[in-house]
Amino acid sequence: MTTACAPGKVILCGEHAVVYGRPAIAVPVTQVRACATVAEAGEGEGLRIHATDLQLWHRVGTAIPAAHPAYPLETTVQHTLQRLGIAYLPDLTLTISSTVPIARGLGSGAAVATAIVRALAQHLGQPLSPQEVSDLVYQTEVIHHGTPSGIDNTVIAFEQPVFFVKGKPIETLRVQRPFWLVIGDTGIRGPTKEVVGDVRRAWQAQPERYEALFDRMGSIARQAREAIESGKVEALGKLMDENQELLRAIGVSSPELEKLIYAARAAGALGAKLCGAGRGGNMIALVRRGQAQHVAKALRDAGASLVIVTKVQSASGDGP
Ligand code: PMV
Repeated sequence: MTTACAPGKVILCGEHAVVYGRPAIAVPVTQVRACATVAEAGEGEGLRIHATDLQLWHRVGTAIPAAHPAYPLETTVQHTLQRLGIAYLPDLTLTISSTVPIARGLGSGAAVATAIVRALAQHLGQPLSPQEVSDLVYQTEVIHHGTPSGIDNTVIAFEQPVFFVKGKPIETLRVQRPFWLVIGDTGIRGPTKEVVGDVRRAWQAQPERYEALFDRMGSIARQAREAIESGKVEALGKLMDENQELLRAIGVSSPELEKLIYAARAAGALGAKLCGAGRGGNMIALVRRGQAQHVAKALRDAGASLVIVTKVQSASGDGP
């Protein structure tokens, strides 16, 4: 039996602009995760998927429409077997469970796919590198999002803070001084595909205006990288606030997100913004270590359906 897991993620800055070639920063969130377990099954049983949270059983190879909840799981398995050069369906049971909230900008689809790819590859004796895992998961992201930038699969497969530019080799960030994020859920589904489509139509209608806004978001991501790598947490907070202004300007914020962002700032957060596609899903607040519980309570009081506190640090856990 083989089990592999993968974390959730949040985008610290640069969402949407990243689809248009600007840089963005994302960090893993280890407080939530998806896990996949591969177990040997009886001869002739084929490859069956059991998604425990969805109470779903699916036999790989059975035709299903693209809208079926098992479709991304089936596709991930098929792509992985193809990549491993396995031309038959082995007799296995693949059990999947996840604590990553679905459709909230925390990367649930990419986390589940990453866990599946890793578990299958390890079980079949051909472990893959993080880049290989990321590339496979990207193909599943296309099903979820249509035209994903690739940031979710990258940060989740590498499990490190990343400075990401579409189509460029991954750059991991060295976090000079660890910092804390409080993540607040509006409780509303973030319709990523729809919001990304709306932004595209707005960009087509007003290319100059949107290109200028994306340029400013890209510049914020570059400055944020410098702030993270030199331990300037206050500066990072200001940049997150600026990024939120720009996200509002492109029309992806919402009254529920604004309410939580306002509550976090009023409770003393150094900066706050929506994260991911927007119009629902989560917001993040940057806080000093001792403030996290106070800001978390303020978010709950303002109506957040789920609050997660996470520490951001380099993979090695370096820094004071
Ligand atoms: O999946 P989410 O909600 O974290 O949003 C994805 C981030 C976008 O930049 C809006 C889209 C993308 O593909 O990068």
